[in-house]
Amino acid sequence: MGKQALFIRHANEVITLKGSSEKPMTKEQMEELHIVKGGSVWLEDGKIHAVGPDEELLATYQARLEEAEVIDATGQVVAPGFVDPHTHLVFAGSRENEFNMRLQGSSYMDIMNAGGGIHATTSATREADHEQLYTESKRRLDKFLVHGVTTIEAKSGYGLSLEHELKQLEVAKRLNDSHCMDIVSTFMGAHAVPGDYKENPEQFVDLVINEMIPKVAELGLAEFNDVFCEHGVFTPEQSKRILEAGRKHGLQPKIHADEIEPYGGAETAAEVGAVSADHLLKASDEGMKMMAEKGVIAVLLPGTAFFLMAESANGRKMIDAGVPVALSTDCNPGSSPTVSLPLIMNLGCLKMGMTPAEVITATTINAAHAINRGHEVGSIEVGKKADLVILDVPNYMQLQYHYGVNHTKTVIKNGEVVVD
Ligand code: NIG
Ligand code: FE
Repeated sequence: MGKQALFIRHANEVITLKGSSEKPMTKEQMEELHIVKGGSVWLEDGKIHAVGPDEELLATYQARLEEAEVIDATGQVVAPGFVDPHTHLVFAGSRENEFNMRLQGSSYMDIMNAGGGIHATTSATREADHEQLYTESKRRLDKFLVHGVTTIEAKSGYGLSLEHELKQLEVAKRLNDSHCMDIVSTFMGAHAVPGDYKENPEQFVDLVINEMIPKVAELGLAEFNDVFCEHGVFTPEQSKRILEAGRKHGLQPKIHADEIEPYGGAETAAEVGAVSADHLLKASDEGMKMMAEKGVIAVLLPGTAFFLMAESANGRKMIDAGVPVALSTDCNPGSSPTVSLPLIMNLGCLKMGMTPAEVITATTINAAHAINRGHEVGSIEVGKKADLVILDVPNYMQLQYHYGVNHTKTVIKNGEVVVD
């Protein structure tokens, strides 16, 4: 027996984003949401079976109305479940002490170089056992779901040794198996050079390349490989070596690029053909152009800029330059301790000059493409996963206009109501 069918009816707007599954949307395509007014959606066996005007679906499914659970979405908006393509979901502890230090003038990188920052979370994560990590991370995952997120990427990078990187990735796998959220894993052993390799960072790069990457790939614990390419962390050359080594083992490249200083990160992303380059606050014009040419997705993280009290990446300029743009929380304990993708959308508009339509595209189909899931989620089209949100607003523009509010009313995952 399949699951009971779900019939969502009469939404003011159904945002379908149809025709976007093949490749990420760029330029004016990002504005084309393909909205059905007075729309309905029929979900069955975890998949989308039909979407269109209510009269049309009623005509098709009239004889089966009795067997379906009907949700009346009158006055509301139905959208694809949101996708968060960049999080550091699995970690232990918190760093509010550093937040306080930053409010008094310390810089993010100074704190890290003094042994805090990523190193502080690495210590806490190494100390935590599997169960503690699972419990802490699951709590975050539940909150993401309440904010309308149905697919999420999760990076390792707070283990920085083979044993502890594997532990993080195993926790992500267990969460994926036990929680309704879909989790896409990224290995990020090159998140920082751990203290014991401070004098010899090349040796740590070798360890990532020769031991960690092969083991992670052999165990099938990640799909992507990410590097923090930043002055004082990993150079563009080291990043390239690490990303190319990952690719040989089937891990696709991603990169934390040009976050704090201009450092050639966007250019490196284009050169290695990364699936995405993330952050990009200080990306050069040339780097953006190269990304546009190569179709590298810019995953922009305006919550991080907000929380670090820095100027956001120039989302407007990137879209105009033809770069496909996605948005994400960057949820992590140091630079962006939030699970609120709705707030990130608000910041996309208010701090990066994106339009309300563009931020929808950037958190649905483009976000899905940034983790190679464009064929499966991110739009409401027949055959795709039945991952949907019902938003308590009469039109999508109010999601940004009434800012700072989680408008998510109902979350449907694999055709079942999981939040209501
Ligand atoms: O994406 N920039 C590097 N990594 C994370 C922050 C990690 C941390 O501070 O714990 C980021 O911002
Ligand atoms: Fe990050």
